[in-house]
Amino acid sequence: MGKSFDIGIDEVRAAGVASNVRPESRPLDRGAPANGKSFFIETFGCQMNVHDAEKVAGVFLARGYRPAESIAEADVLLYNTCSIREKAAQKVFSRLGAWRGIADGKIIGVIGCLAQQEGEEIFERAPWVSLVCGSASYRKLPQLVDELESGGRRVMGLALDTNETFETELTRRDNPLRAYITIIEGCDYACSYCVVPHTRGRERSRASDAVLTEARRLAEAGYTEIQLLGQTVNSYRDPSPSKLKFAEILREVAAIRGIRRVRFTTSHPNDFSREIVDAIDTTPGLCDHIHLPVQSGSTRILQAMRRTYSREEYLEKISWIRAARRPISVTSDIIVGFPGESESDFEETLSLLDEVGYDGVYAFTYSPRPNTTAKSMPDAIPEEEKSKRLAILQDRQRQIQIARNEKLVGATFEIMVDTHHAARSQWAGRTSSNLIVNFGSPHSNLLGEYVQARITRAAPFSLVGEQVG
Ligand code: 5AD
Ligand code: SF4
Repeated sequence: MGKSFDIGIDEVRAAGVASNVRPESRPLDRGAPANGKSFFIETFGCQMNVHDAEKVAGVFLARGYRPAESIAEADVLLYNTCSIREKAAQKVFSRLGAWRGIADGKIIGVIGCLAQQEGEEIFERAPWVSLVCGSASYRKLPQLVDELESGGRRVMGLALDTNETFETELTRRDNPLRAYITIIEGCDYACSYCVVPHTRGRERSRASDAVLTEARRLAEAGYTEIQLLGQTVNSYRDPSPSKLKFAEILREVAAIRGIRRVRFTTSHPNDFSREIVDAIDTTPGLCDHIHLPVQSGSTRILQAMRRTYSREEYLEKISWIRAARRPISVTSDIIVGFPGESESDFEETLSLLDEVGYDGVYAFTYSPRPNTTAKSMPDAIPEEEKSKRLAILQDRQRQIQIARNEKLVGATFEIMVDTHHAARSQWAGRTSSNLIVNFGSPHSNLLGEYVQARITRAAPFSLVGEQVG
């Protein structure tokens, strides 16, 4: 990676700066000379997409574009899309339809997973679009923008066979409190329901020195929390001679002066090692939270999903986490209504919830996706039945969370404050284990501060506390 810089959204929009982020360390004048044009990016989807948008914004800033205040004002309007489930994909065309009336004189682009999936079809369905670029081709963006600037009508970046990662000279940081660093892109698994290997391409890791340099720079800029990202973040394989293992890179980032919290998402159970638990156990700066999606509690369904582990193997990994010296919270993703999921398979998923005792679960009804093998599997579950199972699962998990959270009443936690509800004169933040705590405080600006709070009340999805000390 060459020389690279970070620009915070606060500087770009002259918005408020969190108290712990030193504005002087993040000067404004690092983009190219202004070219008089502006851009706007609308983003849907996962954390990776959100961070991709920060990097794509950096590409435009480096070329002298400025961020537009609104969609109407922008010269370049980009839609950063998601196609993980059908609903997300459908939204894209209705949104593009809404942009038709303002398309005149603008460059309209579609980037991200749906761009990769639909490719040229997007030009057919929405002829006012002139740029289509999948995430594996973001390195080509400057060249694509050049082509458009010199009169190109339709430009595309859809190659998937890259072994390169998206390195940017400039990244616009939209979150003043938590900085994201992608350490691995793409996915080499082949879960039978999932579009990601088809939209983000083969797995490719960034060199550890590039990751650590970026983390140090973020710490110097005043960030105290870093989240390492990857579709399968713990499959990280350092391509550089240092050959750092995932657990080692976690420790190294946490050891950087000024970094108080390191998170990582999403972990794949197959690559989940005891070393990761040891690293968390012995490194206070590594947050005591692991997101470890199981997808189903039935080994039969896990096999049909091609998840590469059984219920028992997953539970063994959970037992390593539970054996740690400090409590580590565990969250998961679950899909209900996968083709062929019987009542008893579903029961196994429910009993897994009890057995693991998750602190949070993102649950979805199965959605058939293009190019996936599950799409043509027999025994589809009717939508109504899928929704019923989803509601049952969510209710069961809610009960589990109430019981777990009630046990925390009376305990004191360190909270990193990230929200101010002015109307209620309340603050909110997260524990290291990623639980949300709402609390009152007489202080006037706590954003970005670390405070101690004692829990006074529990709810299923958050806690209420009072500041102590
Ligand atoms: N249908 C429903 N949920 C899906 N996910 C991925 N693909 C699908 C699909 N086709 C869920 C998985 C994954 C999360 C990001 O989205 O649970 O972990
Ligand atoms: Fe999709 Fe499976 Fe890869 Fe996760 S591991 S991104 S679910 S293919």
